[in-house]
Amino acid sequence: MTHWNTLAAQHSAVADRPIVSLFDDPERARNFSAQAGDLYFDYSKTNIDTATRNALLELARGADVEKMREAMFSGARINGTENRAVLHTALRNLDGSAMMANGRDVMPSVLDTLARMRSFADQVRNGSFTDVVNIGIGGSDLGPAMTVRALTPYHDGPRCHFVSNVDGADIADTLRGLDAKTTLVIVASKTFTTIETMTNARTARAWMIDHGGTPETQFAALSSAEDKTADFGIDPARVFGFADWVGGRYSVWGPIGLSLMIAIGPKAFDAFLRGGQAMDMHFRAAELHENMPVLLALVGIWHNQICGYATRAVLPYDERLEHLPGYLQQLEMESNGKGVLRDGTPSPRNTGPVVWGAAGTNGQHAFYQLIHQGTRVIPCEFMIAAQGHEPELEHHHTLLIANCLAQSQALMQGRALEEARQIASGKGFTGGELEKQARHRVFSGNRPSTTLLYPLLDPFTLGQIIALYEHRVFIEGIILHINSFDQWGVELGKELATSLQPVVEGAQSAKTQDPSTRSLIDFIHRHRN
Ligand code: F6P
Repeated sequence: MTHWNTLAAQHSAVADRPIVSLFDDPERARNFSAQAGDLYFDYSKTNIDTATRNALLELARGADVEKMREAMFSGARINGTENRAVLHTALRNLDGSAMMANGRDVMPSVLDTLARMRSFADQVRNGSFTDVVNIGIGGSDLGPAMTVRALTPYHDGPRCHFVSNVDGADIADTLRGLDAKTTLVIVASKTFTTIETMTNARTARAWMIDHGGTPETQFAALSSAEDKTADFGIDPARVFGFADWVGGRYSVWGPIGLSLMIAIGPKAFDAFLRGGQAMDMHFRAAELHENMPVLLALVGIWHNQICGYATRAVLPYDERLEHLPGYLQQLEMESNGKGVLRDGTPSPRNTGPVVWGAAGTNGQHAFYQLIHQGTRVIPCEFMIAAQGHEPELEHHHTLLIANCLAQSQALMQGRALEEARQIASGKGFTGGELEKQARHRVFSGNRPSTTLLYPLLDPFTLGQIIALYEHRVFIEGIILHINSFDQWGVELGKELATSLQPVVEGAQSAKTQDPSTRSLIDFIHRHRN
């Protein structure tokens, strides 16, 4: 029997078992939780029992996760389709111990770039810049935008803005009201070819010239493509490069994080890196059964591949993590949304889940209805800080915590028909109407969730959290035997957009397009000036 079959059999056996019944074991909360540094991860409100956890651990061992983990840290080219190492962990290896890629220690160059970033960030923070506009998309936007928002209480540098969409509305709304003479534009693009970013960068440059600014001194670039940044006219002194072993969605730790460093200062940025590094050390050294990223991954595999729950909701009860679900969407869905295994054969099972979510408590008033009473089970991943940054508003934080804990409790416990009848009766309903009203108030319960707790969302903790998710995605990918580090699925749409551009412009006929696209273009042409 394969590990997958064992797990499937276990699932059939326990599918209807109430999660609450697992708490007959008084030690369950302790035994089904893990601690790493400042973080506490509780997965006791799931239907995973000791036998299932053992089977999941066997599944992980069988997929060689320990060997693959070491391969990643030691710079092996585990990104097979691009023949690249995966070494974003080097960007937060602040102690500088050797990390090898392609037979060379990468740390001298990583630390050199970091030193240049620090000195540039200090210049910007101490100079006359009032605003920084980061132009990038995907990994060159989501990481810095999410972290700058998350660390608002530590923000003591110039204001930061993020432009990503090729929709002119994005850059127009951002630049309106900015002073072109005191704005720094950072063009963040690993390849420096991404059409959205280059279009926005040219628009920003034209805006700066028109409004009296000086692009020669007010543009910086974060890119691996030095030739292209030079062609764009950016002084090499303000170009910060990184190697091909840093994937876009893993790049916030290096030059792509420059806007964060400018916002919070190099010292706080170092704390952010140290948080990531602390998680790396835990991930690399901890036994699988107490390894937090591994446990998160196993819970994910259990819910998605074994129980068949197609999505997972990320629910930070932390307003400043409002962009985390979007960030994790790229991290998880670009990494593990694959159809073939590493050897190119079709995946025999579903790969990564749909990841979505929003900050609590707002989501409670929008989509939680479906999570509680809808016909689909959605595993929920709650997260919350023990402490907020507003001591004068402590009662807000108390309410926030109570709401977060109440949701995972409600999902697990539910509300039985008998209790619902009593509620309906208390409202004065009788007979058939009472029965009908009661049924609408039933909560099936037995819906799984996990909770991640942290003391305070400071730079170190945020670093730990992001690295935790990166490694979780990596482990899930290894168990699924897929390459989590390429993203060929974004290419076809890009190519077709390029070929459709002249058709939309009217410079080329639409007649070779499919009939649907032809009629869409026809409508657009009729309604476009
Ligand atoms: O969406 C595809 C992608 O390649 C992402 O992986 C990447 O983060 C994004 O585009 C931006 O790429 P670049 O930094 O090269 O502009």
